[in-house]
This record gives sequence, structure tokens and C-alpha cells, in this order.
Amino acid sequence: MYFDTHCHLNSDELYDNYELYINNALNHEVENMMVVGYDLQSSKRAVELAKQYDFIYAAVGIGPNDCLETTEQDLFIIDEYLNEPKVVALGEIGLDYYWDDVPREKQKEIFQKQIEIAKKHDKPISIHCRDAYEDTYQMLKLHGHRGIMHCYSGSAEMAQRFIALGYYISLAGPVTFKNARVPKDVAEKTGLEYLLIETDCPYLTPHPFRGKLNEPANVVYIAQEIAKLKNMEIEDVARMTTFNAKTILGIK
Ligand code: NI
Repeated sequence: MYFDTHCHLNSDELYDNYELYINNALNHEVENMMVVGYDLQSSKRAVELAKQYDFIYAAVGIGPNDCLETTEQDLFIIDEYLNEPKVVALGEIGLDYYWDDVPREKQKEIFQKQIEIAKKHDKPISIHCRDAYEDTYQMLKLHGHRGIMHCYSGSAEMAQRFIALGYYISLAGPVTFKNARVPKDVAEKTGLEYLLIETDCPYLTPHPFRGKLNEPANVVYIAQEIAKLKNMEIEDVARMTTFNAKTILGIK
């Protein structure tokens, strides 16, 4: 029923007990998950999990906070992983001006090079964007392609601009937070045909479990909040977001 399109079972926080978290997910009707990499080790783990479980898919990539020392050889490894059929996307990649751990020019260089790799394999990209919406938009407009705005935290108006470029809008835990006016506004104003759901676990645990470790089973709370905001049945939100996820990720 549910598809958690962005989880980090490959993170140190969850990896030691991934069987437990996968079972919890299945018990909550979370039938598909995409495990997303952010550096070489997490990408390798994502590929291994996807090979082990037929309902798990992988994305591989080097994120903006982990690309300070990224080399051509590292990008070649990412390129090679994309030959695997269960690797359905390249990501997470993008720009992060909040942490600003890596000079912006380097972030842009590694982002752009990975967009080109994704285009070569004709696979979508999963975008990490924090406090960098305008630059991210310009990069995506310039270099084209299609994908997912993961854990989208921009405005509803900005979301329409990304949708026009071929991107889906993925909502995470913040949409459930009481005072999170902006993501709630995005959920209300964005057509369900452009929305995805995700946990981004182990981070961003949704209400009512804020403060605890997040896991894929909690994606149900994201769907529940979207259903409430749109005045729809949760089953319809689940069905449509799963259909959207399979469409953008090319899953039959
Ligand atoms: Ni992530």
C-alpha cells in the first residue's frame, strides 16, 4: 500500500537492525522502500539491501555535505552501480547552503556531474536541497532531466516550478509538525498526482513520535496528514503516491 521513497536503512543508526525495521514496515503495509545513498559506503549498503529484498530499491549518489573530497574515481563507482537493475535512481544529490560544509562551487560541480551520469543511464535523480532552492532550480533548468524533490521544504509556488521541470514533490515528517505551515500549504495546494511520501529516517520523525528514532513504518503518518489536509481517504493517498513513485522510478 505505502511506498517510502526515501529512507536510510543504510545509516549507522538503522543498519545494525535493518531486519527489524523492514519487518515493522511490512507490518504497517509499507510494501516498498527506496534506500538512498549519500556517500560511497551508504550507496554500497543501499545496493546490497536492494539485492537482498525484492521490494526494496536503491538510489546511489554523493550528497552535497559529503562531496568535499569526491574524485573522478568515486563518480565512476556511482556510474557503475547504476548498471544494476534494482538501482532505480541517482541520489541523493543537490545543494545544501544550511550546513555549508563544502564550498558551493564544489557542491555544484559534483551535483552537475552526477546529473550527467543519471542522464546517461536514463534514470531519475533524488534531490537534496536545503536553503538553496533558487540555485537548485537554475541548475535543474539548465541541465534538464527528471526526478524527485526529496523532503521538500520550499513554498507551494516554488513546487509548481519544479513540477513544470519534471519533478515530483516528496513530503516527509515536517508536514505532520503542528507549526509547520509551509509544508502543510504545499500538501494542500499541490495536486496528489505530483506528491510522494517518505520518512528520510532515521531523521525527521513525524508527530506523534518526535524525538524518537525514525523508521520506514512511520511513513503512514505522512500519508495520514496529507489525507487530512486534502480531505481525502488515506487509501487514496497511499494508492496515488505509490503509483507516482513507481512511475518516476520506472518500476513495473
Ligand atoms: Ni536523505
